[in-house]
Amino acid sequence: MKKQISAIKGTKDILPREAKKWQRVESVTKRVLELYAYKEIRTPVFEATELFEKGTGQTTDIVIKEMYTFRDKAGRSLTLRPEYTPSVVRSIIEKRLYLQPEPLRFYYIGPMFRYDKPQKGRYRQFHQVDIEVFGEEDPAIDAEIVEMANYLLKELKVYDTENLVNSVGCKNCRPSYLKDLRSQAEEVRRVLCPDCQRKIKLNPLRIFDCKVETCREAAQTFPEITNYLCQECEEHFSRFCDYLDFFGIKYKVEPRLVRGIDYYTKTTFEVVSSKLGAKNALIGGGRYDDMMKEFGGPDLCGIGFAMGLERLISVVPFTDKKGKFLYLVYLGDESKRAGMKVVQFLRRGGVECLVEYKERSIKSQMSRANKLGAAWVLIIGEEEVKKEQYQLKNMATGSQVERTQEEILKIIRESS
Ligand code: HAM
Repeated sequence: MKKQISAIKGTKDILPREAKKWQRVESVTKRVLELYAYKEIRTPVFEATELFEKGTGQTTDIVIKEMYTFRDKAGRSLTLRPEYTPSVVRSIIEKRLYLQPEPLRFYYIGPMFRYDKPQKGRYRQFHQVDIEVFGEEDPAIDAEIVEMANYLLKELKVYDTENLVNSVGCKNCRPSYLKDLRSQAEEVRRVLCPDCQRKIKLNPLRIFDCKVETCREAAQTFPEITNYLCQECEEHFSRFCDYLDFFGIKYKVEPRLVRGIDYYTKTTFEVVSSKLGAKNALIGGGRYDDMMKEFGGPDLCGIGFAMGLERLISVVPFTDKKGKFLYLVYLGDESKRAGMKVVQFLRRGGVECLVEYKERSIKSQMSRANKLGAAWVLIIGEEEVKKEQYQLKNMATGSQVERTQEEILKIIRESS
């Protein structure tokens, strides 16, 4: 017995039937994002490791434990992107997109990689829809992206979701919060896991990301960042909430929503779905006003979110509509060749056609067409070749007519 090669743990094949659902979700998503004037941007799957160390942050689980990092043949340290935000920032700076008149609003759909513990809704290769906006300070944009996310979910018929919002402050107000958080965490050090004990000094905010039950319980007793916001952050947050009300978006303020990435400033938010169980975040995002400057670019603020496609697809209802395709039935070489020509003509006219190049009897070809759910069958034998008139069978009604290829195209077009 030859040894079988299996897919890598934490990765998933998307087979044709499921791929159809992906295509539909992606096309609805693109349509909605383009309604809000976002433009697609595509960047490489791998980047210099330091991009994520610096962007995503040295104290995040993503950078500490989850990156696919390797050396290439020239000895450079590269990383398969675990998220998209730092790549977009890099590209904008490198290509000087900020000099162009177009608004800096981008979207992207593609795979990300995290060496996380695989489970339902958590994969090592997963896909995100990511959107990013740069240079807009007004909290109206914070609310607009939440509104856009909600509209997108509605268009995809995903209804059982909740918006959680918070502010994580800025460089001015966060230090005093971190000081109190640190001293509170020190008091309960004994109950924290070894990772979180290290985080007390490194970045106590990251204790909120821990999934260990005792750490989660301890985190519930920690001070809330919303009580420490400076005037500017407080005002931004309250205007953000006002705009959400204005858009008619319901939300819950979640003072412990700090999200597992270091770059956030001011607004953070998540859209969660009760249908997802414990891994319930469909969408996560927030503002990151310092990243562009810290990467040596212009002083442009940023905000965005990412939506996990595997999680989204698992809650999107979908009925697989049968394709309306035509199946060619032929007997013998001459009618096969004539049929191939007619099919070529019909395809140019926009008709989906299937020709199976296998010797089969007429009867078994008809039963194949039936089994595969063909909408039409085109039957070509010696007579039809001579007359250049072909038999077209409508599989739904059972009616059969003899027509030229032009007439056949017309019938099929008119029926759809
Ligand atoms: P994130 O919260 O790390 O944020 O990921 C966003 C979404 O990606 C999650 O809510 C989830 O749906 C999905 N996701 C994350 N990890 C996995 C996984 N291992 N398997 C399946 N799905 C997963 C970010 O990535 C930020 N870059 C979002 C952002 C954009 N913030 C500002 N701009």
